[in-house]
Amino acid sequence: MADYEPVLLRNVGVENSHTLEVYRAQGGYQALAKALKMTPDEVQEEVRDATLRGRGGAGFPAGVKWSFLPKDRTHTYLCVNGDESEPPTFSNRVVMEKDPHQLIEGIIISGYATQAQAAYVYLRIEFHEPFHILQKAIDEAYAAGLLGKNILDSGYSLDCYIHRGAGAYVCGEETGLIESIEGKRGYPRIKPPFPAVEGLFRRPTVVNNVETLCNVPHIIERGADWFKSIGSEGNFGPKLFCVCGPVNRPGCYEGPMTITLGDLIYDNKYGQGMRDGKEVKAVFPGGISMGVVTTDELDMVMDFTDPAEYGLLGIGTAAAVVIDNSIDIRTVLRNVARFFALESCGQCTQCREGTSWMYKIATRIEQGAGRIEDLDLLIETTGNLGMMPGLSICGLSDGAVFPIRTIVQKFRAEFEEHIRNQEPGCVEAALAVAN
Ligand SMILES: Cc1cc2nc3c(=O)[nH]c(=O)nc-3n(C[C@H](O)[C@H](O)[C@H](O)COP(=O)(O)O)c2cc1C
Ligand code: SF4
Repeated sequence: MADYEPVLLRNVGVENSHTLEVYRAQGGYQALAKALKMTPDEVQEEVRDATLRGRGGAGFPAGVKWSFLPKDRTHTYLCVNGDESEPPTFSNRVVMEKDPHQLIEGIIISGYATQAQAAYVYLRIEFHEPFHILQKAIDEAYAAGLLGKNILDSGYSLDCYIHRGAGAYVCGEETGLIESIEGKRGYPRIKPPFPAVEGLFRRPTVVNNVETLCNVPHIIERGADWFKSIGSEGNFGPKLFCVCGPVNRPGCYEGPMTITLGDLIYDNKYGQGMRDGKEVKAVFPGGISMGVVTTDELDMVMDFTDPAEYGLLGIGTAAAVVIDNSIDIRTVLRNVARFFALESCGQCTQCREGTSWMYKIATRIEQGAGRIEDLDLLIETTGNLGMMPGLSICGLSDGAVFPIRTIVQKFRAEFEEHIRNQEPGCVEAALAVAN
């Protein structure tokens, strides 16, 4: 693989990389000075030309999202999504801890492009270190005239606040996040209206992921053509990947979206292979909510398009959980089902009931009292609770569907073997308890 020069993680490992002094010494805030000499429309256009796709999961182009803001608006808010509750994702965290000014520069430039008056960075409460480091960096930026009134004498003003949530997966969903910032329970809203038209405090709002915004200063500084020289058509720019599980070097890495899942696990630049002679059995390549692939599918490219070819919902957060072949697939199924049953906010009946029932069935199978028809029942249930057929308010239900469906479909033979080898009479005993 050709050498790749880190962009988003270039300051990681530099001493005191979290301080304004070091960030500036590395060339930081030059993109902001350049952006403030452009018009907001010119900045938007550069980001649109770069076709920067959102890194929070859905991959929607940032420049296009910004253009949905009504032209005659009087207020604009920017919500920065640092909730990062998708297991096992921690790339936003790395950036906020190691290079918080990169994010702040991205926020100010994006705020200028959208003419936002205030930016709210949403963090879940467990992010103690990122909170303290980012708050200190925001204070430094205010003191240096990079935030607040009349930034660098440009006439543009922006305030930036951190809002800490209580820690719920659904608060990462953009309208759940908005409700939470407003001080309410993080119940996702029915759309339309979309946040660009009616978002925070019912005003036009842009919601972008931390990593998405970190790309913006680099696009302004080096141009859309440079951005498009990295990756492939539809998958441009630097990307952060996480890998965890029994690999030799779990961590957060940067690369182009041309690497495969196999590269992420085995390449010396990334995971460096499996630990202690273990073998890959299954991998969730995009956080758990995108679905699972088998050891025969590691040639999947870690981009926005290829995962669909493997029955997945998408690339999601590009954070891979590796499962080795000592793990019982029934335990994997039960763990995943439990997560979504606990995290469903309960507003939509089919998501609330569907995730609970899938968890109950998965528990029964794991405890050695499953039936072959339970596998079909699980597959049938996954067809009836998602946002995709228009049944739910938010995408959490789709995030529950894809892992359960792909685990059962791709590991059906193993499930059937376990079920065939169960103790006689155990199903009747389990059903009697359940009833
Ligand atoms: C259940 C659920 C959880 C989500 N969690 C996050 C999250 O933690 N961080 C994030 O950036 N996006 C998350 N999203 C996606 C957001 O709704 C939204 O699409 C994203 O923040 C937009 O930013 P982007 O366009 O820059 O990717 C989640 C979506 C759903 C349905
Ligand atoms: S789909 Fe699930 S998590 Fe989303 S709003 Fe409905 S019940 Fe809540």
